[in-house]
Amino acid sequence: MSAFSTAGMMPHGHCYLWDPGLVRLHVASDVLIAGAYLSIPFTLAYFVRRRRDLPFPWIFLCFGLFITACGATHVMEVWTLWHPDYWASGLVKAFTAAVSLTTAVLLVRLMPKALALPSPQDLSESETRFRVLLESAPDAMVLVDGGGAVCDLNSQVERLFGYARGELLGRPVELLMPERFRQGHVAHRAGYFGEPRQRPMGAGMELFGRRKDGSEFPVEISLSPLKTGRGAFALSAVRDISARKETEAALRRSMADADAAYKELETFSYSVAHDLRAPLRKIDAYSQALLDDYGGRFDAQGTDFLQRLRRASQTMAQLIDALLNLARVARAEPRREEVDLGALARSVAEGLREGDPARKVELVVADGVMVQADPRLLKDVMENLLGNAWKFTGRRPRARIEFGVLRGPGPAVYFVRDDGAGFDPAYARRLFSPFERLHRPGEFPGSGIGLATAQRIVQRHGGRMWAEGAVNRGAAFFFTLEPEGER
Ligand code: HEM
Repeated sequence: MSAFSTAGMMPHGHCYLWDPGLVRLHVASDVLIAGAYLSIPFTLAYFVRRRRDLPFPWIFLCFGLFITACGATHVMEVWTLWHPDYWASGLVKAFTAAVSLTTAVLLVRLMPKALALPSPQDLSESETRFRVLLESAPDAMVLVDGGGAVCDLNSQVERLFGYARGELLGRPVELLMPERFRQGHVAHRAGYFGEPRQRPMGAGMELFGRRKDGSEFPVEISLSPLKTGRGAFALSAVRDISARKETEAALRRSMADADAAYKELETFSYSVAHDLRAPLRKIDAYSQALLDDYGGRFDAQGTDFLQRLRRASQTMAQLIDALLNLARVARAEPRREEVDLGALARSVAEGLREGDPARKVELVVADGVMVQADPRLLKDVMENLLGNAWKFTGRRPRARIEFGVLRGPGPAVYFVRDDGAGFDPAYARRLFSPFERLHRPGEFPGSGIGLATAQRIVQRHGGRMWAEGAVNRGAAFFFTLEPEGER
């Protein structure tokens, strides 16, 4: 203790020979310096409290401590004028030295980060860029803080909602929606700040905005979170979708009209077909009766005419059936289930072989081709494609018909290939139009509607059908059963 004793020492005033003027000068200066120093930490604390976004608040704490210590050294200067507590004054100085040195070192180390802080000019430029972006957006943009108050907006908001900027700033965002949503929305938006991410708002819901004049309009809104030093914000981009909704409604109306017209047409064609079939059956039946009962009275030409009459009426009946079938599949909604396309192809091909067992046709059918499709409609497709292959290879002494699948990056491509009469590739597209026949009727029989029907079925499944071929070098028909973009 004796080492810190100040016994026998004289107060500092002795050095000034207690000259009242000199003592007053020192006291007044030290008191003023100490007062100024000790007030600065309060100002700094106030600043740090108000500016929660400051990047390194701890350096202000260091400054506060350093300045307080400096102030304390001046207080000790006044104290030691009358009291020789030089150890205490020295310790205060030592503490001040430690705090000052620490602050100085920390300040030097902080310098690169401090220099990297954006300057007021940078900030103003960035603010300008933000504003330009906000203004150039086609949507009405509303920036909302964590409490739901509007902090910023672009002029599209003013135009869309009919409010002036000043009428919205600081007001709850709920002002922009119909009253019936407002109460519930407060909780919705608070929930958003709990799990903020960029996403559409109310996906699958019908959203409405409300103008200043009270009128409502349908909107689409996307939300983006914005985290800043001043807290969390959400930016909502509001798009007026009135025009799109009107177009959709008009489209729905046209589709309903088209549907009604189609149904009418269907009923009409059904009754026409029905009415046409009856006289056709009669023509066929009476021609047959003529042949059976009066056959003896006709010469060879008469019998031939009657037979031609029968064949023509039967062809017409088939045409009517094919047309009705085309109309049916064009509207059919495929009921998808798992279908073994290979097995289906095999059973259709066996049927063809049974109908004409004398022909020498090598049938190659891929196994395990499982698809999700409507089995009834797909049977029509395979009957058409394999039936065509069978028909157009009819003049070959030996033929080859193949069903298979090509697997690549896109949807699986199924095919039926033959080495028959083929076709001119220039007409590949026309093959699928109803009544388009690339061969003379006498050459190969058929209605000219089968491929149109097959293509329509494939399209109803979301796929497409196309053909490749060359005259007398066979034909290949390809189809998919799902849209190109999928998988
Ligand atoms: C940036 C501020 C906004 C936030 C954070 C926000 C958040 C939300 C959330 C979370 C929902 C619930 C549906 C969902 O989770 O997606 C919602 C619904 C809704 N919001 Fe917003 N929204 C904001 C701005 C707006 C604006 C500007 C409007 C009107 C122009 C609006 C109109 C609506 C409506 C009408 C609903 C449906 C309410 C219901 O059906 O109960 N919102 N909002």
